[in-house]
Amino acid sequence: MAESMQGLHRSHRCTEVNNTMIGQKVTVMGWVAKSRNKGGIIFTDLRDRSGILQIIFEEAACGTECFEKAGKLRSEFVIAVEGTVNKREGAVNDNLATGDIEIVASSLRILSESDTPPFPIEENSKTKEELRLKYRYLDLRRPDLQRNLIMKSKVATIARQFMADEGFLEIETPMLTKSTPEGARDYLVPSRVHPGTFYALPQSPQIFKQLLMCSGYDRYFQIARCFRDEDLRADRQPEFTQMDMELSFVDVEDVIDVNERLLAKLFKDILDIDITLPIRRMTWAEAMDRFGSDKPDLRFGIELKDVTDIVKNCGFGVFTGAIENGGTVRAINAKGQGAMPRKKIDALVDFAKTYGAKGLPYIAISEDGTYKSSFAKFMTDEEMKAICEALDGEAGDLLLFAADKNKVVWDTLGALRCHLAEMMDIIDKDVFEFVWITEFPLLEWSEEQNRYTAMHHPFTMPMEEDIQFIDSDPGRVRAKAYDIVLNGNEIGGGSVRIHQDDIQEKMFECLGFTKEQAYERFGFLLDAFKYGVPPHAGLAYGLDRLVMIMAKQESIRDVIAFPKVKDASCLMTNAPDVVDDAQLVELGIEISTTENEE
Ligand code: AMO
Ligand code: AMP
Repeated sequence: MAESMQGLHRSHRCTEVNNTMIGQKVTVMGWVAKSRNKGGIIFTDLRDRSGILQIIFEEAACGTECFEKAGKLRSEFVIAVEGTVNKREGAVNDNLATGDIEIVASSLRILSESDTPPFPIEENSKTKEELRLKYRYLDLRRPDLQRNLIMKSKVATIARQFMADEGFLEIETPMLTKSTPEGARDYLVPSRVHPGTFYALPQSPQIFKQLLMCSGYDRYFQIARCFRDEDLRADRQPEFTQMDMELSFVDVEDVIDVNERLLAKLFKDILDIDITLPIRRMTWAEAMDRFGSDKPDLRFGIELKDVTDIVKNCGFGVFTGAIENGGTVRAINAKGQGAMPRKKIDALVDFAKTYGAKGLPYIAISEDGTYKSSFAKFMTDEEMKAICEALDGEAGDLLLFAADKNKVVWDTLGALRCHLAEMMDIIDKDVFEFVWITEFPLLEWSEEQNRYTAMHHPFTMPMEEDIQFIDSDPGRVRAKAYDIVLNGNEIGGGSVRIHQDDIQEKMFECLGFTKEQAYERFGFLLDAFKYGVPPHAGLAYGLDRLVMIMAKQESIRDVIAFPKVKDASCLMTNAPDVVDDAQLVELGIEISTTENEE
């Protein structure tokens, strides 16, 4: 029978009780983590979001009725206990914050009982994630998830306060809106009042925050939910949270400055880590050249080396073919991996193929300095020697090559260096390596759409010195865009925006929009710019991603209370779901049945 709270007040959370309070009376409440009846004495671990506290029930201290009730306690019962703080007589538990004390109970109420949970509520759960997500409300009782969500709440609180102190105003922007240009698919919401029309959920507050700049709010901040219908990965969710900001009358340096101080504050206050400022910077071109990625993990080396010049006249068709097709040949050196068994090398080849590489030529240098290589027979001794030298190849090293279009070469080796670093266990997991990536290309050629697309979004400002190439060589134009990267993850990104009509028009032209199309989509923004627009710039963090890294979690799901799985469904609520016919009729929507449906 569930008892009530009447007359009771919780005095402390479990771990707020400590050894300076010996002899004090407390009232604590929470869930039974476990309860063990040792005959004359019952030990109960009480759990709340702060941690665990041991309660002991003895008949002499709490009376017969209470002692009998305590004998019925099972895992996950919700209880209230009044008692006295006592120094532990027996084994002190160093693993608990409250390991040297216990509560000697004087009374017990069972506030609610619990069925046996489908999996144990414990740290580092071995239970399959599918089951845990189905019962997410139980999963969320686990201390690791509680710590993550508590950290996320702290990040948000500190960021809010910091931004307010810096003169930022927190302003909400709409959820029911028109398509925003971040490059993913929109989630659409049908309108009942205007049948056949749809709102789009925002992919980001981008356009609205620019409009707020037009309206004079000069520094805007928002912790904003964003929606993107894209393929999910470990660091992506269909709905996620941005810490979003926009500033007027600023250039790149101002945005970087405020954000470096924000990051330093967050890492100091939450992890007690001092970030050295300024954070280092790297141009996009350098990042690609050295690390094959615009979000390089700088916790380890294994840099890419361009060997195109060395092999351009060699006898190996894979290399020369790639070069003739406008590609390059690059390689990395996996130090000390020369003795890697064939099977493992084959696994690396398969890994490389998932990034579009057609193979993974290699040279394994034996301890005696001889080579084992998939292509040595096509090369002269001089060429082999020159390659090894270029890559610093020494006895015992494994050199891995990619020859293809630059994008494939970068993707393959960029991913491979991270994969190898994990395999070789050379990543210091306690280190946080930040880097700003700057000078992104403004545009990127889309083979699919056979046109240029905006690398960031269409409102990003080209670098002044490159504007001259916008007609003649658009691919060469660099943008005033910047990403903040942490341990190989893009945790945030932003840019200086275009505030000049003529440049914005040029940009739309480059992107293949006619004037009419541009007006159709962004007319209200273009109109707003006619009435006095300040130069402005901004940035948005993926809050979930940032916290995922701060909390050293592998998956973004571990820092989101109710996340979705790979196919964008929620295993607990079963969303998305079918709706009543009546709702569809009201919305003027008919579902067309597809072939694979029964
Ligand atoms: P961008 O598209 O780079 O920029 O997004 C900003 C940051 O949001 C995070 N992020 C995601 N996190 C989880 N799941 C996702 N699906 C997801 N997509 C993005 C990333 C990313 O760095 N309006 C611009 C910002 C600006 O220019 O001010 C924008 O949205 O960490
Ligand atoms: P056990 O179930 O025996 O592994 O007990 C583990 C927990 O119960 C520890 O936190 C101990 O502090 C407590 N415990 C078990 N037996 C005793 C005892 N005789 N005296 C005090 N604490 C005990």
